[in-house]
Amino acid sequence: MAMASSASVSVSGRGGGFLLPAAVLLAVAVVHARGAPCVPRVFSFGDSLADTGNFPFLYGNDSREPALRTPYGETFFRRATGRFSDGRLIVDFIADTMGLPFVRPYLSGRTAEDFASGANFAVGGAMALGPDFFRGRGVPMGDRMHLDVEMKWFHDLLDLLCPADRADCTGMMNQSLFLVGEIGGNDYNIPLLSRVPFEKIRTFTPSVVAKISSTVTELIGLGAKTLVVPGNLPIGCVPNYLMIFKSDKKEDYELETGCLRWMNEFSKYHNRLLIDELEKLRKFHRGVSIIYADYYGAAMEIYRSPEQFGIDHPLAACCGGGGPYGVSMTARCGYGEYKVCDDPQKYGSWDGFHPSEAAYKGIAIGLLRGTYTQPSISTTISSCPQLTELGSSVEYKNCGTVPHLTVVAQVIGWLLFFVHFL
Ligand SMILES: *[C@@H]1O[C@H](CO)[C@@H](O)[C@H](O)[C@H]1NC(C)=O
Ligand SMILES: *[C@@H]1O[C@H](CO)[C@@H](O)[C@H](O)[C@H]1NC(C)=O
Repeated sequence: MAMASSASVSVSGRGGGFLLPAAVLLAVAVVHARGAPCVPRVFSFGDSLADTGNFPFLYGNDSREPALRTPYGETFFRRATGRFSDGRLIVDFIADTMGLPFVRPYLSGRTAEDFASGANFAVGGAMALGPDFFRGRGVPMGDRMHLDVEMKWFHDLLDLLCPADRADCTGMMNQSLFLVGEIGGNDYNIPLLSRVPFEKIRTFTPSVVAKISSTVTELIGLGAKTLVVPGNLPIGCVPNYLMIFKSDKKEDYELETGCLRWMNEFSKYHNRLLIDELEKLRKFHRGVSIIYADYYGAAMEIYRSPEQFGIDHPLAACCGGGGPYGVSMTARCGYGEYKVCDDPQKYGSWDGFHPSEAAYKGIAIGLLRGTYTQPSISTTISSCPQLTELGSSVEYKNCGTVPHLTVVAQVIGWLLFFVHFL
């Protein structure tokens, strides 16, 4: 915002006369448009890919979880916020682009006022399905968070926001943006890490997708009109999996990226089932926008052309135990003899399981400019002109600023252009 006012100053120095008021007005209008949210609220559900700080409220600040201490958060917040990365997550970039503050963790608020811009129900470690599903199939499972609990919290919030009558919340529900996920990744991660046979894990997918689907249906029943439902990331590009499932066979790896082929095939399988399910839901709920967010496709851009995102080590963790993928069996980011890289922006992964802020940013921009959302989020949410502008900008990838500043800078560029040539 400081940039915009200094632009009007330099415009006044060069242009003078009648140009000045017009230029100032335009600059002010743009800044004002950025300040006003284009969507009043965002509600988010999911796991550590989207948790903006519920974890410490649930498990305590003294939990052994390293995400509650630095170096987590070091890149953007300069302190640990409970986010499982060095900086902002996809949900942060989405809220920011829509002109909203970062989405507040549900467990950090108390009053209706606290949730004026929405709430985030995502919790690190959360699964789509409850532990009973797994125990019933002979998979050992501790008590973990899952979608039903997050939905229970959402109902509690509705009781707070519209205590007399749920119908009082209709106007709020129909204008809010709902991010339902990413969720389901842990339904596979946890069995994978306890070495449940892969063929068995594959049989869980229809149930995971059914759970996501019933959650979407429930939200629609409560009045949601705009929902974004992400698929799974390419898990074959996750440094810890590249280490654990290391193979001597060349054909186990994708030529183009070096990711594990069979694991990425599995992510694609989950995503295919989810896409088909969302298509069915759209037929049942005309008048509701159900947007698929292709995390897989958006992330693969980074693994295929990391240099376009300023990333030098797409398949390595910045924080971890060393080794070819920046991870080791004996040290983990935040535990033991771990190492932290000098520049997290150059790494695709933060801690061996979670993407770096740089990767999240690349994915978020891919979604927001419409390339990796079906139908495109920018044509679906017509109240957000900044999404269309993001889609037509070509200089977005390497810049270190948040997207809306890029747009402001672009407008300043046009102003200076006019001052020079008129
Ligand atoms: C953790 O710390 C935050 C911020 O200081 C505080 O608000 C919260 O109550 C703490 N949570 C627990 C479970 O102690
Ligand atoms: C949203 O709900 C409010 C309150 O019922 C209604 O007045 C408004 O027309 C609805 N808007 C849309 C876009 O459905």
